[in-house]
Amino acid sequence: MYPGLPQRDYIDPAVFAQEQARIFRRLWIFAGLRTLLAEPDSFLTRTIGGVPVLVQNLEGCIKAFRNQCPHRQAPLQTEAYGSRKLVCGYYGWSFDAEGRVRGIPGEDRLYHYPTADRERLCLDEFAVECIGNLVFVNLDPTPLPIE
Ligand code: FES
Repeated sequence: MYPGLPQRDYIDPAVFAQEQARIFRRLWIFAGLRTLLAEPDSFLTRTIGGVPVLVQNLEGCIKAFRNQCPHRQAPLQTEAYGSRKLVCGYYGWSFDAEGRVRGIPGEDRLYHYPTADRERLCLDEFAVECIGNLVFVNLDPTPLPIE
């Protein structure tokens, strides 16, 4: 008889945290259908391995970022899918296709970021691959080839 996992492994938060870190944040995970991302600015959001993820068509490229604004960590997109510019709904910071800050309302009056600090204000980007109509995301900084 196959012994299986101990019962506690199904409910132990520490085991769940290990699965999130060792499996779901390291492997390619199905994120959604490419048909949802056909138009510029169309997006979908998911939580993968406990991490909020945004996948969006930006200038015709499918990109994946942490769905978290670098200003005060608000989610950038709040719906499961839709079409909307990559602009935070909190104070209106906007981002380009590389995840860099494009615009900050009132920047000259309020923030006075030194150039080097402002250049570091960017979204965490994740690897994304499309196979046919399927979109996969990998949160690992050095992901295994999807093949
Ligand atoms: S939290 Fe996004 S603009 Fe402030």
